[in-house]
Amino acid sequence: QMKGKGRIANRVCAEMKWLLDQYIIDLYVDEIWKKIPSSWKVLDRLSDLEWSQVMDENVPCSLTFPLPLPIICLRSLLREYSLINSSCSQSLNEVQIDHHKVCEYQSLTVYEKRRVKEKKRDEIERIVPLLRTIRDIRPFSSFVDIGSGLGHLTRAIVSSIPHLAVRGVEGSEELVERAMELDEKRSEKRVERMKVWVDAHSKELLADDDAVCVGGLHACGDLGPSILRLALSQSTVSACLLFGCCYHKMNGGRDKLYRQEWEGVEEEMSSENGFPMSEEWKDVKLSYAARELACHSKSAYVKQLREKGVNHMHHCVRAMGELLIEKVGGGRHIGLRGVTMKRIERSEDVLEWMDRAMIDHPLLKKNIKEKLLNGCPTLPSLDSLPSLISSFCSTITTLYHLRVMIAPFVEDIILIDRVTALRESGMKSTVVRLFDPNISPRCFALIGLR
Ligand SMILES: C[S@@+](CC[C@H](N)C(=O)[O-])C[C@H]1O[C@@H](n2cnc3c(N)ncnc32)[C@H](O)[C@@H]1O
Repeated sequence: QMKGKGRIANRVCAEMKWLLDQYIIDLYVDEIWKKIPSSWKVLDRLSDLEWSQVMDENVPCSLTFPLPLPIICLRSLLREYSLINSSCSQSLNEVQIDHHKVCEYQSLTVYEKRRVKEKKRDEIERIVPLLRTIRDIRPFSSFVDIGSGLGHLTRAIVSSIPHLAVRGVEGSEELVERAMELDEKRSEKRVERMKVWVDAHSKELLADDDAVCVGGLHACGDLGPSILRLALSQSTVSACLLFGCCYHKMNGGRDKLYRQEWEGVEEEMSSENGFPMSEEWKDVKLSYAARELACHSKSAYVKQLREKGVNHMHHCVRAMGELLIEKVGGGRHIGLRGVTMKRIERSEDVLEWMDRAMIDHPLLKKNIKEKLLNGCPTLPSLDSLPSLISSFCSTITTLYHLRVMIAPFVEDIILIDRVTALRESGMKSTVVRLFDPNISPRCFALIGLR
């Protein structure tokens, strides 16, 4: 089933590459509307509420006109194959974990809840029972949390699971110090804290353990894959538990478009990339833009569509700003201030947006403004800008919705690559949806057992 999913995912990625790799900010520069199949133009007519139905493949759509066939296919594909739908994640359940048992929630009283954000609390109270279940299947005497941040998870674990040594490893000195201060105030039992910037070769971390479970809660970028590689390389690791985060930062984030231009970062090669990890998926490519998309929360977005609606005018103005900046040679994807503009009706509105958004780029702003006011032939006329912006707002909205619609599929690809990499090296592995995606968008637990 996983291989089947791999093939389908690959095909979807290939066919949807134009959408996955497309930055909304480049709407005008790339004339994106030319890439959208003409039969999809009907999508521009959908209301937010209708979009919330189209994007949620688990609810029937009641529209007054038929959806384009590829969108109908996409919906059924997502319904069938998306990990977020528990039937699919159960089919990956090589470890034979009882999903209902795993997804138990246990309210813990052992740490000071007031100081821990609701999201973190919810996560911790689901991880602790999961860790107990894993320990019943593959015993371990210590747990090492890598990228432990302020240490909330480690404190909860050390206080709630008896006879388990707990270590928190964190690369940031400041966070280690703050975690130790919190330990002083709260824990009866001690968590060992280490300041180490971890990579796949940080074997010294686990040197003294006999049977250990390594974990990472929202281990960002390449840290997640490093934890898995570390687990694979150390025979003393009996289990691992990983929650992903910031997938775009994988592979060092080196493929970020225009990165060199605006960050002045030199191209550098790393021997170990976070994606793909597995042999089976070695030819699959996901661009920075696609990996960034995988970090979106589709369920929260659909909820917003249903309850409040969305307005993408600010994206449309930013995209027009990108065209103007590009036309005067002012760089690409430079950082501007975020400005909310619900409506752009007059040319003054555009100039106001420039004043506020480009406050950190006074020379560039002056240059563009002068050209607009003097009627430069290489730029659109100032008078035409409001209608150019408003008339493409529905296009940008459609694109945004479509991208978010397939976002979970991209995360699936990343997760399945990780599952596959563990299996290829002899670990049993599975993915379970542990958190409520509306609270914790990165809601999947990747479990590996030796
Ligand atoms: C997204 S935060 C999650 C923190 C914590 N696990 C939580 O869920 O609250 C990721 C943490 O990993 C740490 N980190 C990232 N890369 C690391 C590395 N290579 N070695 C050690 N720590 C790392 C960061 O400093 C940060 O504290």
